[in-house]
Amino acid sequence: MTEHLTVVDHPLIQHKLTIMRDRTTSTAGFRQLLKEISQLLAYEITRELPMTTRAIDTPMTRMEAPVLAGKKLVLVSILRAGNGLMDGVLELIPSARVGFIGLYRDEETLQPVQYYCKLPQDMEDRMVIAVDPMLATGNSSAAAIDLIKATGAKTIRFLCLLAAPEGVARMREAHPDVPIVTAALDEGLNEKGYIMPGLGDAGDRMFGTK
Ligand code: URA
Repeated sequence: MTEHLTVVDHPLIQHKLTIMRDRTTSTAGFRQLLKEISQLLAYEITRELPMTTRAIDTPMTRMEAPVLAGKKLVLVSILRAGNGLMDGVLELIPSARVGFIGLYRDEETLQPVQYYCKLPQDMEDRMVIAVDPMLATGNSSAAAIDLIKATGAKTIRFLCLLAAPEGVARMREAHPDVPIVTAALDEGLNEKGYIMPGLGDAGDRMFGTK
């Protein structure tokens, strides 16, 4: 991937995203749509996966057929909202390895603090897709990518549903080598760090915790 930011403006994604943004959409509906969009976004983010071939026998003849090359890829969910995005991607790529990174924001310093990190082995040989629906300030996303890079991972992508220009700029500054794929680039952040027009708190909306 050469672009740092890819906005996937496919009509199906945009239509589903509008329903997700709508405050009257139910928790169940929100979760279902997130799963559907995550699979469409996963299609885009995996577009350039390396391929090789394998000899197989069809009922008609023998052929060299295309298959994915290399080690299984890794999905890293940035807790907790990342789990909603990860579920759909995992359905599409069931053999992927899975990692989790938990970060919270220190109320005084406003900086992300790690409370959990469990990542698979052999990260340096695998493509890693970090998932978090909302790229807002970019502070926790950049910190999560720091943790992933500390394992030696070299090929990393970031998948989100909505991005704010502030978060994209932060990621470009901290991790210019990590392409971002999103369904929309919104207008900006409000004073509390929420994406505008956004969709509210993604975790609360997908888990019904408001
Ligand atoms: N996290 C969310 O869930 N929503 C936002 O708008 C920003 C960060």
